[in-house]
Amino acid sequence: MTHATMTHAAHDEHPTWLRRWVFTTNHKDIGTLYLVFAALMFVFAGSQAMAFRLELFAPGIQFIDPLAFNQFVTIHGLVMVFGAVMPAFAGLANWLIPMMIGAPDMALPRINNWGFWILPFAASLLLLSIVVPGTPEAGWTMYPPLSIVGSSGKVQLGGDLLIFAVHLLGMSSILGAINIIVTILNMRAPGMSLMKLPMFCWAWLITAFLLIAAMPVLAGGVTMLLTDRHFGTSFFDAAGGGDPVLFQHIFWFFGHPEVYIIILPAFGIISHIVPAFSRKPLFGYASMIYALVGIAFLSFIVWAHHMYTTGMPLAGNLFFMYATMLIAVPTGVKIFNWVSTMWKGSLSFEAPMLCALAFIMIFTVGGFTGMMLAMAPADYQYHDTYFVVSHFHYTMGISAIYAIVGAIYFWLPKWSGRLYDERLARIQFWISIVAVNVTFFPQFFLGLAGMPRRIPDYALQFADFNMLSSLGAWVFGSAQLLFLYIVLKTVFAGRRTAEARVWDGATGLEWTLPSPAPYHSFATPPVVH
Ligand code: CU
Ligand code: CA
Repeated sequence: MTHATMTHAAHDEHPTWLRRWVFTTNHKDIGTLYLVFAALMFVFAGSQAMAFRLELFAPGIQFIDPLAFNQFVTIHGLVMVFGAVMPAFAGLANWLIPMMIGAPDMALPRINNWGFWILPFAASLLLLSIVVPGTPEAGWTMYPPLSIVGSSGKVQLGGDLLIFAVHLLGMSSILGAINIIVTILNMRAPGMSLMKLPMFCWAWLITAFLLIAAMPVLAGGVTMLLTDRHFGTSFFDAAGGGDPVLFQHIFWFFGHPEVYIIILPAFGIISHIVPAFSRKPLFGYASMIYALVGIAFLSFIVWAHHMYTTGMPLAGNLFFMYATMLIAVPTGVKIFNWVSTMWKGSLSFEAPMLCALAFIMIFTVGGFTGMMLAMAPADYQYHDTYFVVSHFHYTMGISAIYAIVGAIYFWLPKWSGRLYDERLARIQFWISIVAVNVTFFPQFFLGLAGMPRRIPDYALQFADFNMLSSLGAWVFGSAQLLFLYIVLKTVFAGRRTAEARVWDGATGLEWTLPSPAPYHSFATPPVVH
């Protein structure tokens, strides 16, 4: 062996830090990258939330100027949805799907790498849009005319950066979705038929199809915004023969499925945690899958329930009202099945189970208030109020956080071989669950009383509930920092534990149906070669 080849071999066996993380095609490394990225974005968008809860602490406070307040709300929403929650679920998908189906890695490892590394660039554009002229201010929904000509009266750079960021985020999501579909359909262990597929994989398989169907619609919508901004197309400009309401149709045709893109992976996670801590198989496996498919199908025919007040014909309002209410059926099936899984089970309440139970309760509050919003005649009262803000935070914000936090408590021992501090985790859970309800529950009452969303100040009668909400938010935010501390402490200094014995061996990777246990990639250490 020549000296040159020896050096080369040594180089490959011990890749530099940069090579390992930038060029990685290992699903675990990429999963970790996604999770770290998501954590950073959570901290960023979370601190924005802390700041505008300060602005809303009491009437009359002028801490952030009104324009900047709208910019804060816009970036908070976009970063939370596209930068934090979606990448967190993508990270969990990367870690778990190959292990659950017995595949050595994802089917398309280089596309996997590319899909992740698009994200930091997209996030940079989004963050850059804050400091250039024309910071986006129209909310995460980007409604024209404000998303075309800003409050400055001009078309400015910030809005364009946002549009390019959305394109990149969409590309990243679609690449990830293709990879997940190909992996699940082609790389399952022998004997693992689709009806034996672990529930997290089913949830992600359906989510991936939603992504492929929904993201291009958003890309089309923002491209039309771009041409309206620069090339005088007037798609959304009444003066040129267009209609701003068209954008709402396009946006929500993406936006409602997007809600399920966020929540279906969470459903999958809960379907693993609840059986493990009930010492019972999941109740109603097949009906869980049909419910997921039903929710996914319905998600594409309900978009205009966001638009009851736009002056749609009565028949339109009624169609979207009834279609939306139908979603309660498959959703109810899922809640019923989780509860039935627990029924007469041998329950224990470690941190992952507490998070799963919190998810079920929080998502149910979100679902019931969703039913209230779905009623077209009543929606005229709630529309654009804090009732909506609280509803969607329960449905797709904090419920997603509990699923992610629960999943990390549940699988971190399996990933790292180390156990987290259970006592600290339970303290973190209880602070967090009380604080989050103190934050958001008062917002329902604020909304019912008529407090509009996206305002930097408000009338005196809303003072008490806002103060309560701000106090809750700061405690909730701090509790999430405690969570990050618990995770770091586990990874770098946690108590070592025998991998197979965690949770009595019920780690959700060993599927409970009578199929051969899949070979999974724990057999190899998580190092690139
Ligand atoms: Cu919707
Ligand atoms: Ca204020």
